[in-house]
Amino acid sequence: MSSGQLYDTIGATYTTTRRTEPRIAARIWAALGAARTVLNVGAGTGSYEPTDRDVTAVEPSALMRAQRPAGAAPCVAARAESLPFADRAFDAAMAVSTVHHWSDPIAGLREMRRVARRVVVFTHDSSAAGWHDRFWLTRDYLPETTDLFVGRPSLAEQARAIGARVEPVPIPWDCADGLFEAYWRRPEAYLDDRVRRAVSVWARVGPEAEQRAVRSLRADLASGRWAERNCDLVTLDAAELGLRLLVT
Ligand SMILES: C[S@@+](CC[C@H](N)C(=O)[O-])C[C@H]1O[C@@H](n2cnc3c(N)ncnc32)[C@H](O)[C@@H]1O
Repeated sequence: MSSGQLYDTIGATYTTTRRTEPRIAARIWAALGAARTVLNVGAGTGSYEPTDRDVTAVEPSALMRAQRPAGAAPCVAARAESLPFADRAFDAAMAVSTVHHWSDPIAGLREMRRVARRVVVFTHDSSAAGWHDRFWLTRDYLPETTDLFVGRPSLAEQARAIGARVEPVPIPWDCADGLFEAYWRRPEAYLDDRVRRAVSVWARVGPEAEQRAVRSLRADLASGRWAERNCDLVTLDAAELGLRLLVT
């Protein structure tokens, strides 16, 4: 199943937990600089679209497009790998939490570079040494996540393809966007089906791994084992979990 199709299957409840996190938005919007026209690739339901610029969205999933609020930027049904726009048609192009879904990330990033003078991408560095052990959820409960990134281009390769610099983005403890890492200090959230349904990782590891991870986490929360293992997190306001901005 291609990733546009994946969101036609899992996207129905996306907006229940996935919304713009203001501190991440501030980083993305600052990186857009003075851009007046902005293309949002893999735009989903419209999170992170700046309201003070002229935005055009691209989104392949009809189910995601249908959930864009009234008054949201116009949205074109297309994929990153083949953007239906002329060279340098936009001042900037942005992509948020989407590159890991593209069948050919390098082709998609080059397309963004072709149609825009500046590119801003918010993504996850799953190629960094030790990324899997950085987050207790992948380390202790969901080892299957390592398999999801096999054969994918590294973040360094992606950055090189478009000449981007890489900036770390710490995730606040009360992150308003329920992305996979959002609840690093609120572990009970992962027991909630609604939280998991809006994150593709859970669908991609499959129901068996998901149910095993949830059972195991529930038991560790009840016994105090999770708290014992992760006591260092309680005093942190933000965590470095491998989220990155690529900026050209
Ligand atoms: C996790 S959602 C992120 C949506 C939005 N950017 C946000 O931050 O909420 C990933 C989105 O990427 C889209 N997508 C998947 N494959 C794509 C592709 N090849 N080109 C562009 N978008 C794609 C999916 O349909 C989905 O809407």
